[in-house]
Amino acid sequence: MERIRIVGGAPLNGTIPISGAKNATLPLMIASLLTDETLVLENVPHLADVALLKRILGNHGVDCMIQGKRAGQNGATAETIELSAGEIVDTFAPYELVSKMRASFWVIGPLLARMGEARVSLPGGCAIGTRPVDLFIMALRELGAEIDIDGGYVVARAPKGLRGGRIVFPKVTVGATHVAMMAAVLARGETVIENAAREPEVVDLADCLIKMGARISGAGTATIRVTGVDRLTGARHAVMPDRIETGTYAFAVAMAGGDVLLEGASSATLERPLELLAEVGAEVTTTNEGIRVRRNGSGLHAVDVSTEPFPGFPTDLQAQLMALVCHAKGSSHIRETIFENRFMHVQELARLGADIHLDGQMATVNGVARLKGAEVMATDLRASMSLVIAGLAAEGETIVNRVYHLDRGFERIEQKLGDCGATVERLAG
Ligand code: EPZ
Repeated sequence: MERIRIVGGAPLNGTIPISGAKNATLPLMIASLLTDETLVLENVPHLADVALLKRILGNHGVDCMIQGKRAGQNGATAETIELSAGEIVDTFAPYELVSKMRASFWVIGPLLARMGEARVSLPGGCAIGTRPVDLFIMALRELGAEIDIDGGYVVARAPKGLRGGRIVFPKVTVGATHVAMMAAVLARGETVIENAAREPEVVDLADCLIKMGARISGAGTATIRVTGVDRLTGARHAVMPDRIETGTYAFAVAMAGGDVLLEGASSATLERPLELLAEVGAEVTTTNEGIRVRRNGSGLHAVDVSTEPFPGFPTDLQAQLMALVCHAKGSSHIRETIFENRFMHVQELARLGADIHLDGQMATVNGVARLKGAEVMATDLRASMSLVIAGLAAEGETIVNRVYHLDRGFERIEQKLGDCGATVERLAG
């Protein structure tokens, strides 16, 4: 298994190009199941999760062609892909594939909408919490689907097609909002989705569906309205910049010190994290080219924060923020409200000398003056990045094991950080 070696202590200076967002790319790729015409996606990041989803969609009959690198991207590996689901050959999504990536469960929405049936494995638990699918089932039933659970599979049928309905989510869920929207676009009549997720990735999916001929309003607010149409067409859409990658590198610069332009980043999707970054002690400016983050010499300050659905502070940046405040003066309090078990990084950060106490969903981080490099283990995608951030400021060498977690969601981290002066290299297993 590959590992990442980091030698801490160097500031970061230069430019980091921000990739297309993983969590927008995945639902956008899945939306290709809704039409027999070609969906062209630009700015698709080069990630293990994207490669896996290509395979999963291939099983359903989607042809995926890579058009080549995006012009002017200066060596970045963003791809333009063409997805064509001329014919859906199978509405079955097996356990072996769905269990590897939870988002692949989302194929249930478009398959049901277009084919009137789907048999999709339950995604099962994962390292950050139980993550049930009850709200997906509730939403699809509201649209007229008959749903059974059979042998670990969700079996959904709508022999006469889906019809519009009123879906009221009792809690905000990104995945079930994506699925409700993708199912409703081909349903008969109007659907109203209440307490919808307002995440920018939901807006990106809605924008693409609208280009494909869907009638959707209100994406980005808590109430989304969809008027069903008979068919969708092909379209061309560029994936939004990755706000979590942006926030991650912004925190890395605050941790290591230095001056970095996060090229192509959008501050509109990162208001709360950037506000916090300023509270912690970094200077943040938005320019035409992206977001510039600077910290020169000054110390870091402690903060109190809870993770919240958008526009609140995202759970996907919680681990990275925790790494940053390990080095702050005073005690920070970080409450995780979205997932019940998203603190796996705490014991790994402790190996580097962090002083963190957990009490249920609340972590108290007592800042320490120095962190010291150690061997640590990546536990999930975002947690892995918190270890890299801590390693950038730790004395000596940090080795992060199980790097495959990182490769699921971060493109070329050793190159992006290395180009800014960090010593980060990949070691063969
Ligand atoms: C998406 O996951 C993201 N994944 C996650 O990013 C992110 O952490 C999460 O949204 C929250 O922002 C992708 O976009 C691919 P949810 P999702 O449904 O959709 C509960 C990363 O690191 N819930 O919004 O699976 C659920 O258990 C990943 O890139 C139910 O109770 O998250 C959680 O407590 C990790 N029943 C809460 O809702 C359901 O049927 C929010 O989860 C569905 C969800």
